[in-house]
Amino acid sequence: MKVAVVQFYPKFKDIEYNFSFIHKQSKSIEADLICFPELSTSGYFFWEKDELAPFAFDFNSRIIKEIQEISTSQNKIILFGFPERSGGNFYNSCAILFPDAKLSTLYRKTHLFYRERFVFTPGDTGFFVIHYEPMNLNLGTMICYDWRFPEAARSLGLLGADIIACPSNLVTKIWHLAIPARAIENKVFFLVANRIGKETNHGEELVFNGKSGIWHYYGSLIATANDNDETTLIAEIDPTETRDKSIDKYNNIFKDRRPEMYSKITEIT
Ligand code: ACM
Repeated sequence: MKVAVVQFYPKFKDIEYNFSFIHKQSKSIEADLICFPELSTSGYFFWEKDELAPFAFDFNSRIIKEIQEISTSQNKIILFGFPERSGGNFYNSCAILFPDAKLSTLYRKTHLFYRERFVFTPGDTGFFVIHYEPMNLNLGTMICYDWRFPEAARSLGLLGADIIACPSNLVTKIWHLAIPARAIENKVFFLVANRIGKETNHGEELVFNGKSGIWHYYGSLIATANDNDETTLIAEIDPTETRDKSIDKYNNIFKDRRPEMYSKITEIT
């Protein structure tokens, strides 16, 4: 299957511009799966809930419906980050839209980064994997700072993910060191759709560093972007190659696990 990672510069608080960019790219990119960055519809650096509120929407909104229509009519899986409104809460969420809309759902970011704690509620969906039979694909999702927690990728690996898609707004440069390890440890393909550009709020500037990538399950980069261009990475991959977790005739990275040895450390006090 063909996977695509879109790196772009979302305009802060310009929902119509960002939506029309996502819409246009979703239509024109020829791939089976397209992944956009975290908070693609709104930009990132909100200071507090009241500031975010006008840009948050729920999963039944027009924006989700219009991208779902493209997913269904063009037979593409489409993921994009957006600020979700649900009841009185806001979540940093990712829409995961399948051509078969019954499977479409969202993931709510588990680990909140920096000032997100003043804006969003920590995600309650947990990590999950969706099997999409027409593409023979097991898809797992995490968002940005979730990468810092090996448990996130491990959960998705153990749940059977072939691909981990990770919409991101990354501001450090160290994640390129960790992602290949997460890919190797779990024998999964890894897609990081990062954004570029800068945002300033209350005199503080955040710089988003691009370098989006598609990683092979043995840790090598199949495709990568630079730190300042809007670009789309495309790769042809076979998700089923990840399913045999044997690495030689004796070792299997999942069957060799010894969780009874790991459980002694449960809490940091
Ligand atoms: C991040 O979680 N946006 C770094």
